[in-house]
Amino acid sequence: MIRVAILISGGGSNMVRLVESMVDDHPARPVLVASNDARATGLDKAARMGVPTAAIDHRPYGKDRTGFEAELLKPILAVKPDILCLAGFMRVLTPEFVERFAGRMLNIHPSLLPKYPGLHTHRRAIEAGDTEAGCTVHEVTPVLDDGPILGQARVPVEPGDTPDELAARVLVQEHRLYPAVLRRFAEGKREPVFL
Ligand code: GRF
Repeated sequence: MIRVAILISGGGSNMVRLVESMVDDHPARPVLVASNDARATGLDKAARMGVPTAAIDHRPYGKDRTGFEAELLKPILAVKPDILCLAGFMRVLTPEFVERFAGRMLNIHPSLLPKYPGLHTHRRAIEAGDTEAGCTVHEVTPVLDDGPILGQARVPVEPGDTPDELAARVLVQEHRLYPAVLRRFAEGKREPVFL
């Protein structure tokens, strides 16, 4: 059985869909949900779904990313994950951390990469006058939001959209895309999924 650990920072709506998808004939199962914030409401949702959780507060470490990651690694390595999924995880990870999981670490980003890496993706798409937006699941590499694309889903940008309205439309597609990509990835498939 392929073991999946999921990192979150907040509500964990993508994590919930991933956990819900790993049932029956799915080749993977969730073994941990970890957060950089003990207040992340996604932790309660994971616990209610029977998934072990861990919280490592990043704030005491300040700019010491390596120190924070050394603590974060403990519960992760303890469950021996085969795949690491970042799902609404809002901390930038060091290249050293990423290298540990090279080729088996996924992230979902709320834009059609390579457009709009980084933050405020929906506002940027609206301000650019884009008529389309969406989300991307990619392999995580040391360069932020830059790894091989494993899947994308597109939505229209409607006239007058606010960033929140566009974010809500994209989030619906995130919840479809991430489970679809994770299943194929767990099955050893690497050709990208386009929804
Ligand atoms: C989502 O827009 C996701 O794309 C981004 O974080 C937001 C919240 O995700 N990375 P979740 O509800 O915590 O999964």
